[in-house]
Amino acid sequence: MTSASKDRVVIFDTTLRDGEQCPGATMTLEEKLQVADLLDEMGVDIIEAGFPIASNGDFEAVSLIAERVKNAVVAGLARAAFGDIDRAGEAVKKARRPRIHTFLSTSPVHMKHKLQKSPEEVLEMVIAQVKRARNLVDDVEWSAEDGTRTEHDFLCRCVEEAIKAGATTINIPDTVGYSAPDEYRSLFRMVRERVPNSDKAIFSVHCHNDLGMAVANSIAGVEGGARQIECTINGIGERAGNAALEEIVMAIKTRNDIFPFECGVKNEMLMRASRVVSAVTSFPVQYNKAIVGRNAFAHESGIHQDGMLKNTQTYEIMTPESVGVSKTSLVMGKHSGRNAFRDKLQTLGYSLSDNQIQDAFVRFKELADRKKEIFDEDIESLVDENLAGARDRMKVLSLLVVAGTIKEQIATLTLDIDGAHRTVQSTGNGPVDATFNAIKALAPHDAVLELYQVHAVTAGTDAQAEVSVRLTADSRTFTGKGADPDTLVASAKAYLSALNKLMARGDRLHAQAAE
Ligand code: KIV
Ligand code: ZN
Repeated sequence: MTSASKDRVVIFDTTLRDGEQCPGATMTLEEKLQVADLLDEMGVDIIEAGFPIASNGDFEAVSLIAERVKNAVVAGLARAAFGDIDRAGEAVKKARRPRIHTFLSTSPVHMKHKLQKSPEEVLEMVIAQVKRARNLVDDVEWSAEDGTRTEHDFLCRCVEEAIKAGATTINIPDTVGYSAPDEYRSLFRMVRERVPNSDKAIFSVHCHNDLGMAVANSIAGVEGGARQIECTINGIGERAGNAALEEIVMAIKTRNDIFPFECGVKNEMLMRASRVVSAVTSFPVQYNKAIVGRNAFAHESGIHQDGMLKNTQTYEIMTPESVGVSKTSLVMGKHSGRNAFRDKLQTLGYSLSDNQIQDAFVRFKELADRKKEIFDEDIESLVDENLAGARDRMKVLSLLVVAGTIKEQIATLTLDIDGAHRTVQSTGNGPVDATFNAIKALAPHDAVLELYQVHAVTAGTDAQAEVSVRLTADSRTFTGKGADPDTLVASAKAYLSALNKLMARGDRLHAQAAE
């Protein structure tokens, strides 16, 4: 089959909406803009930029993304309420290609318990919501929330009416991750066959991963006739997450013999996107995650290594380079200059401003003074940390920790808080506890530490430690990451990164209340 005759599948990325909705994945405005720019450059067809009615911050993020995105359609989400739809329309209006995505539950359990509405009332609302959105933009997507648990006759009636009212895309989400591939494929075939005007709209899949079948279900839905796939980078999203964009793209590209579809995403940028999203959300990527996990291209057993040396096709179905993974290489040391560093950043896929390069170069030199061999991964974690923490109110200036068996553990910590330097000395039950107590003494808060995890960025005892921290306050979760050759400094940075996000949210709420 020639590429011209293949069906085009459009990729709808919802990292900034469904992804950001998951506990702890909150992003700042700058981080959202950075992710949106990357998605656009990567060739994603539609970027769902947020849920404008949710908060002024969400509205602002969607509006700014709408203004700057060059190629992709920019969508804003709205419930079936006129206020929601108007707000979404306002937020996306400056986009070159604006879309309103409006949804309503159609399953018996949702209609009865969540909406407390009869099917007839729901049907009326579907028509009204789509018409309202169509008055604002030409591109309207309607989603039947909990579509896979919806009674078929009713689903077909809703879809038919939504298309009549002007919906150009119809999404049938597997909201609770309940479906299985054969069932989901048949659902699309059934709806497209039974709904008389189904050829007037593009059908879309949106799968959650509660049973680990989100990617398989998405592809099955496409086999059933859908031509839009909704997904997120690293599969982040509500509960067990959404279908992972990188897995979908590589399944289509690697098994194009059985999935003969075309998709416009630049696969060489997948690793970069995964790293940026992991850095800004502070959500670590599972080591054995398909496509972008650090073990995805590692071969451990002797038999596999032997095969790989003879011919890489023995155990590799796609090359690391095809997803943007460069083989770990010794790159630089303390004598490397600014130009070599700039080149390296480019090879690793970063496009940074001169100021950002300068900042990263200074930190690279500091690291090179402490660590003899600097690998690609070291540079990536250094730059990612810088991008994520650019607007932080608190930074670590110095840390001295007394640890060991002779006396109690004491941490002496100096932080820069809003430009002022403040120092404290604290004790604790171990060096990490003493360090975190010092942070609490300088920045009192009620957040509870829920997770503390350490792993090494590269091999060797002088490897940088990468620490992840999760804090919970007022039932919201904030995650932070920090990297440093000193595990305790990395721990302090990770704790502060989560705390900075918590404070940024407090500032936003404050500003909104004042408004
Ligand atoms: O999972 C879901 O049903 C959704 C809708 C809003 C599309 O995210
Ligand atoms: Zn969803």
